[in-house]
Amino acid sequence: MHPHAQVYAHAHPHALPDLGRTMVLTGASRGIGHATVRRFSETGWRIITCSRQPFNRQRCPWEEGPDDHVQVDLSDRRELQLAIHDIKAKLNGKPLHALVNNAGISPKTSAGSRMSSLVTPVETWLQVIQVNFLAPMLLARGLFEELAAAHGSVVNVTSIVGSRVHPFAGTAYATSKAALACLTREMAHDFAPHGIRVNAIAPGEIKTEILSPETAERLAPTIPMRRIGTPEEVAEVIYFLCSDASSYVTGTEIEINGGQHL
Ligand SMILES: NC(=O)c1ccc[n+]([C@@H]2O[C@H](COP(=O)([O-])OP(=O)(O)OC[C@H]3O[C@@H](n4cnc5c(N)ncnc54)[C@H](OP(=O)(O)O)[C@@H]3O)[C@@H](O)[C@H]2O)c1
Repeated sequence: MHPHAQVYAHAHPHALPDLGRTMVLTGASRGIGHATVRRFSETGWRIITCSRQPFNRQRCPWEEGPDDHVQVDLSDRRELQLAIHDIKAKLNGKPLHALVNNAGISPKTSAGSRMSSLVTPVETWLQVIQVNFLAPMLLARGLFEELAAAHGSVVNVTSIVGSRVHPFAGTAYATSKAALACLTREMAHDFAPHGIRVNAIAPGEIKTEILSPETAERLAPTIPMRRIGTPEEVAEVIYFLCSDASSYVTGTEIEINGGQHL
């Protein structure tokens, strides 16, 4: 535990109920991942973050940030293996309470439109499948012992587009998210006897950089709640799935979309 956190915990014994818990989260540098790190750090979690960018002290106020950041391109399988070693070294034999597989990519055509099954290059398919689908599996498998030691929780970030065609999201992206939803079910089955829960969250339209600029304007009127969601609303559900409040929940996919799937 960071020495500042120890002092703080002594002064405010009820303010940081999750002190001593550790999470690994991919795609922490912005969007849903960034909001999730903020949400968890508020209650005392230690967070090991992963993304391609170096740690940015100005945007990320959490304490052990630079020391607990792993710079990795998840599209590179060799880099990913090195990152798993690095994460294990940072854990140093301690249990891992949560793994949030949040990083994802959604390539568009050069004109910014949906990349359909007719035009998606094979290289794009391979990159999307590696980042959105294989990396979550390899991370969960690579950190299995640490997760089992904590009776931890894995949360995979899927998408509403895994179950329907979307005007902006492409074929490779949609396929990778459908596969990740299936993988969640399979891993929940395989990991449950070891005390590890595995769930998914499927956001609809959330205000982040991954969205096409016209999404809010075009799609919000079609959503029953008549608005797009915020990263903080997604972070809250991830928190629920990593907390004891969901201790008997595994193998499920929670829709976070204001009723868009109805
Ligand atoms: N926003 C939505 O409406 C929405 C809807 C459904 C599902 N989702 C899913 O939610 C997750 C987060 O999305 P978001 O909207 O927050 O996206 P975002 O704002 O584009 O952020 C994506 C994050 O993933 C990281 N990342 C991307 N490629 C990476 C790579 N190759 N290696 C390591 N890290 C990588 C990025 O960090 P670096 O650039 O530093 O690497 C960034 O932190 C994604 O899985 C996305 O598919 C989002």
